Amino acid sequence: MDVFRIQGGARLVGEVHVTGAKNSSLKLMAVALLAPGKTIIHAVPNILDVTIMAELLRRLGCSVSYDADTETVEIEVPETIEHRADYDLVRRMRASIAVLGPLVARTGAADVALPGGDAIGSRGLDMHTAGLERMGATVANEHGYLVVHAPDGGLVGTHVYLDFPSVGATETLLMAAVTANGVTVIDNAAREPEIVDICSMLLDMGAQIDGVGTSLLTVTGVSSLQAVEHTTVADRIVAGTWAVAAAITGGDITVHNANSEHLSIALEKLVTSGAEVETISDGFRIQMNKRPTAIDVVTLPYPGFPTDLQPQFIALNSIAEGSAMVTENLFEARFRFVQELSRLGAEVRTDGHHALIRGRSQLSGAPVEATDIRAGAGLVLAGLVAEGETTVHAVEHIDRGYVAFEKQLSALGANIVRKSSPTLS
Ligand code: UD1
Repeated sequence: MDVFRIQGGARLVGEVHVTGAKNSSLKLMAVALLAPGKTIIHAVPNILDVTIMAELLRRLGCSVSYDADTETVEIEVPETIEHRADYDLVRRMRASIAVLGPLVARTGAADVALPGGDAIGSRGLDMHTAGLERMGATVANEHGYLVVHAPDGGLVGTHVYLDFPSVGATETLLMAAVTANGVTVIDNAAREPEIVDICSMLLDMGAQIDGVGTSLLTVTGVSSLQAVEHTTVADRIVAGTWAVAAAITGGDITVHNANSEHLSIALEKLVTSGAEVETISDGFRIQMNKRPTAIDVVTLPYPGFPTDLQPQFIALNSIAEGSAMVTENLFEARFRFVQELSRLGAEVRTDGHHALIRGRSQLSGAPVEATDIRAGAGLVLAGLVAEGETTVHAVEHIDRGYVAFEKQLSALGANIVRKSSPTLS
């Protein structure tokens, strides 16, 4: 296990290029299951989760190759695929659940290990399963597996109303509906750019979907889909993390391959905090020339403020002028990382969904532990401005969302190195 050793104090200046979105690439790989033949997906980041998804697809009968230099994955899907996603892979990556919809659609059945909770919350699957049941499937929980069977003639289109615009449930139902019999309406659907990306690949494959990018998706089932070539949408969370990196260090970073419209609220918040943001042809440039002002944040489904940028904004608030309230509405356990941030001297009090942060003029370096991808990013950002040395442990979490994070930070002027963590024998 590696650690990052950071000497705080550097101002970050330079240019970065954002990869394709992790949260889109993984799902696009699952979408490939819907069509026999060769699917090619570009801008797939070189992260462990892609390797896990590739292995899962292989177990389902596909041939998968990944070229890290070109960030391209090629998936050869056979006419007949397996329908079981084993626990050993699903437990390593919750996004494995993305195969549920395609498996039921293609094979009429799915045995997918229950992913269980994780460090950011309990993350139920009730909306995934209720939607499939509305489409005629039977769903059972057997020996730790979700066992789903479509009716004999296949899934049947219907009106599904989601209690909450869940990203995962919207994806499962979308992928199940594209080849179902008749029309499926997904009401109160999630509208994240990654969902739009999935829809755009499905449309190229021959699916019929109306209302893309809205909360009402109308899917008319087609008999079959064709394999296609697709490029993943840029990762708005990685782009947003770079934006906070500039703001927190009083830096000047130009972020290429980023869609600033996908980050409207987050960038607007940074402007309120004192940053200057300029949109350029393929991204944006962000500069901060003063101590940031504390800013309130409320996480909500897209187009609201993204929960995946919440820890980074708490880090920013921890050294800002004034106090701010951050409200987390999606993942109940996301504030766990605040305990780690406190080790750097941050003043944060949490109460249920709320965190009150009193900005300090200076944090002080200390050993901390990344508890999940975004918490890890937040801790690294705090370490960049803490006085002295911060050691971030469990960076394997960070590696799951950020390709060569420390190398990119070094190139911008940060004093950060990766070291092997000493082990006790
Ligand atoms: C995805 C993203 C994650 C992001 C989140 C919200 C991936 C791999 N992960 O997660 O990075 O933070 O969207 O933008 O794409 N819920 C239920 N029952 C369900 C489904 C969800 O209770 O059937 C709850 C979850 O526990 C959570 C909330 O709804 O509290 C949001 O979940 P959801 O939008 O589905 O997020 P994920 O798809 O898990």
